[in-house]
Amino acid sequence: MKVDLFFTPSEVEESFLANRVVIVIDVLRASATIAQALYNGCKDVIPVESADRALDLMQKIGRGFVLLCGEREGKKIEGFDLGNSPYEYENAVVKDKTLIFATTNGSKAIVKASAGEKVVIGSFVNFQSVLDLVANLNKDLSVLCSGENNHFSLEDAVCGGMFIDKLKDYGKVQLNDGAQVACILYQKNKENLLKALETSEHGKYLISLGFKNDLSFCCQLDAIPVLPILENGRIIQYTVL
Ligand code: MLT
Repeated sequence: MKVDLFFTPSEVEESFLANRVVIVIDVLRASATIAQALYNGCKDVIPVESADRALDLMQKIGRGFVLLCGEREGKKIEGFDLGNSPYEYENAVVKDKTLIFATTNGSKAIVKASAGEKVVIGSFVNFQSVLDLVANLNKDLSVLCSGENNHFSLEDAVCGGMFIDKLKDYGKVQLNDGAQVACILYQKNKENLLKALETSEHGKYLISLGFKNDLSFCCQLDAIPVLPILENGRIIQYTVL
């Protein structure tokens, strides 16, 4: 299996992702928030690339049928219902709702990844569920890190490296340079994932905003065993048949 890892969405063309399975990773915090929303019973999550696009879509679907969700600079967008802290996505709030989801990097990366043959949203919180799926599919894989404004993010690279490291147990993998480097970063940080998040630039920024608990949430390994899959522009929970 060929496995490529891209540290930022700008490193890859949509056309490269066609015919590939894609794992999109935004450890802090979009991936964990999406997993939590699905686990707590939301109907689906529509990722969009901008707040304006979210508002357009909301008008088409109808204000009463959706929750507007997302952040800019880590904070809830003005006029939106929810920000991007996974703790906001409780069952009482999201159950049976369609969430329109606009975050700075994560939702944009997911929109770009939609060119892929199968697109799954991965993170530490749903790690094993995603690993089992991609291992069973046994197709060429691209790991797309959301990064931070098209710059490298340590936490996404470590999580991507962990996926690749564990995939090696299932068979031979052929890695691009990004995948090799991510494996090294995972090895270096695997004994203390929380520390990696706390020392990352975005982790430090979120702590400064008062979101320290979100970092602990986002590095709980396999705490939310859901498989978020992008289908026809909507993220839903995938059920393995
Ligand atoms: C993003 O998409 O850039 C993030 O998930 C930012 C955050 O809310 O921490």
